Amino acid sequence: MMSGMGDRFFIEGGVPLAGSLAVRGSKNAASKLMVASLLTDQPSTIENVPMSVEIDITRELCEKIGSTVSAVGDYEIRIVTPKVTTSLVPELSRKNRIPILALGPLLHRAGVAEVPVLGGCPIGHRPIDFHVAALREMGVEIERREHSYYAEAQEIRGADIAFPWPSVGATESVILAAVLAKGRTRIENAAVEPEIMNLIEMLCAMGAKISVREAKRSIEVEGVLSLGGARIRVMPDRNEIVSFATAALATGGSVCIENIEDWYLKTFLSHLDAIGAGYEKEGSGMRFFKKGPFRPDSIRTEPHPGFMTDWQQPFLVVLTAAEGISIIHETVYEDRLGYTEDLRRMGAYIEVSGVCPVGSECRFFGGGYKHVARITGPAKLKGTRIRIPDLRAGMAHVVAALAAQGESVLEEIHHLDRGYEKIDERLETIGARIRRVMDGE
Ligand code: EPZ
Repeated sequence: MMSGMGDRFFIEGGVPLAGSLAVRGSKNAASKLMVASLLTDQPSTIENVPMSVEIDITRELCEKIGSTVSAVGDYEIRIVTPKVTTSLVPELSRKNRIPILALGPLLHRAGVAEVPVLGGCPIGHRPIDFHVAALREMGVEIERREHSYYAEAQEIRGADIAFPWPSVGATESVILAAVLAKGRTRIENAAVEPEIMNLIEMLCAMGAKISVREAKRSIEVEGVLSLGGARIRVMPDRNEIVSFATAALATGGSVCIENIEDWYLKTFLSHLDAIGAGYEKEGSGMRFFKKGPFRPDSIRTEPHPGFMTDWQQPFLVVLTAAEGISIIHETVYEDRLGYTEDLRRMGAYIEVSGVCPVGSECRFFGGGYKHVARITGPAKLKGTRIRIPDLRAGMAHVVAALAAQGESVLEEIHHLDRGYEKIDERLETIGARIRRVMDGE
């Protein structure tokens, strides 16, 4: 759903959420599966694709390149790219971070490629130097232009790549380039997020040869000559699960999320244990509920299997209700705590500083980045007017507004529509008093 820039949510808080709801497929997996389909002229079918704006943006990219994307049923698409009609798409919108991932597939299909400089949420510098350095090691010539990256490769070769940090995007870039490369690629210090395993599952179904040693953060890809189409199901969106679960907890409610498994939520669940929040299996889903006062917690965001950086924002809202002092140490993005200013205006006690709890072990040590939050609870939140700065911060604001007494007005909700399908309508089904007011109304 495309929202107007002036669309906003009115939320009347203080109502415990109750009921059950379904989780959509992960946008951060689905968009990569769509890019993987570009590696072949054969059709692929992708099930459980969410209807978020992120997917529309990725679809625009694929269609520009020559793909035909058709809806097969609810949440299922067929995508086929018989011919790459153009691999030079520098003028595409810079609204998300997917185009850089298309470099490998486009180079395999066309030998040259040009993609826009990346967009996405304003949460830190977000460079792509790891992508560029790794692709260069694989024989790709890349030139940074004013608004784009231009790349050429006669042949992509396998290489030994060691990342300085387990970047999700850079790991995906290399895998997507390596599957059809000449020879073997070894990635050390690779990201091993479940969404990457979903991508590997699809590539293997297409005929790729990939082996993963998750505990060692090591991925090995043996290049093959060609790939075919595949049928694949997008895994559930872990960020949605955490968003709905924290909304249930922060409002003192009880919500069952259908059809989820605990293996990709382990770290989140261990922090629910730490704060004394309730969760239990219910059929093929899991129920999240408040069972008493919350205890404070100490969290450090990290690549999988650590606590995800995308979870800290709504979880922080729950911690504002905990009895005592909690710490959130953000180690993935240097500038992802700006939203706490709005929570302070709602009545939360939060101090943000650059003092790393682990000193020089932290990658942001000495950089002056305000990446550590100290939350003193319990606080009673009250509704206010908020301008949403980015997707996950926006979810913290939604959760806070649902938990607060009184009305909140959330502006710039297009950030939420990029990552969540009809979040207002779905929250309404579990009792939220949330109303979307369109631009101009
Ligand atoms: C993905 O971003 C997700 N986006 C992010 O979700 C998520 O927060 C992130 O992974 C971490 O889990 C998509 O999948 C589209 P990274 P990505 O490369 O791949 C540094 C959301 O809200 N880095 O793992 O861009 C980088 O600056 C979004 O859904 C380099 O220095 O993340 C950051 O500090 C937000 N050089 C860290 O690595 C590089 O070349 C992690 O980035 C690449 C990354």
